[in-house]
Amino acid sequence: MTYTTLLFDVRDGIAVITVNRPDKLNALNTQVITDLGQAVDQVRRSPDIKGAILTGAGPKSFVAGADISGFQGLQAVSARQMSARGSGIFRSIERSGKPWIAAINGFALGGGCELAMACHIRVASENAKFGQPEVKLGIPPGYGGTIRLPRLIGKGRAIELLTTGAMIDAQEAYRIGLVNHVYPADQLMAEAEKLLRTILGNAPLAVAACIELANIQDGMQLDDALAFESGLFGGLFGTEDATEGAKAFLEKRPPKFTGK
Ligand code: COA
Repeated sequence: MTYTTLLFDVRDGIAVITVNRPDKLNALNTQVITDLGQAVDQVRRSPDIKGAILTGAGPKSFVAGADISGFQGLQAVSARQMSARGSGIFRSIERSGKPWIAAINGFALGGGCELAMACHIRVASENAKFGQPEVKLGIPPGYGGTIRLPRLIGKGRAIELLTTGAMIDAQEAYRIGLVNHVYPADQLMAEAEKLLRTILGNAPLAVAACIELANIQDGMQLDDALAFESGLFGGLFGTEDATEGAKAFLEKRPPKFTGK
């Protein structure tokens, strides 16, 4: 697979995907969205890839939003299609059974913040900056920002960020739960990889079940979500990894998981 706007490296089971338009602060144009869609597919299909880290090229930006130069002359129908297409690709990251970590190395604005929120876990460098500045352009966010931000940080804080278009720094993003960890810039990728390797050391089907359950409860009544969890919990007991996990614990040795 070749990409025009992404770097795609696989290192010992981890795909490191870098949005690579540093001269435009890695803004999301149509080609980046197309490439991201293919990258999501490649991660999903490849048995050699167990999880992914998404970051931006250069020291300054993760993704500084949708490419504003593509907005001129955009009409309602095409703008709606653009939103739906990007949203669908972001959703497929969120629904991936393989864990995705956003390593936010600078600006995560607009579509960049939305892309980070579609990943399962966010870690940031100390120089990262977050915001949904779309209102300053006369539009609301269109890649899930108005949905995922309230779910992540609560409605009151989200509405303030969405309606002011304010930019917040990494420490504030950490304080309100938008990112899980903040690291010095030169340690960000190593720490993201360490976290992902910890996750990948666990049983893959159980990890995928956790992601699916955490995702699905958003749209469910509590009782339905609990019943769904019981169903997956029961289903996982039929796996070899569940047998191995308990056996290894009782034998006081590390488990050897196979993903079966
Ligand atoms: N779309 C298109 N181009 C963008 C962009 C975006 N979202 N964000 C940055 N760029 C481009 C700039 O136009 C500039 O290109 P140029 O060198 O050809 O003029 C280049 O990236 C560098 O950005 P610049 O604005 O010079 O950097 P800065 O450090 O002064 O400011 C930002 C950084 C992020 C504050 C500023 O670029 C910005 O506000 N970007 C738009 C953010 C936004 O509104 N995103 C949501 C879009 S829906």
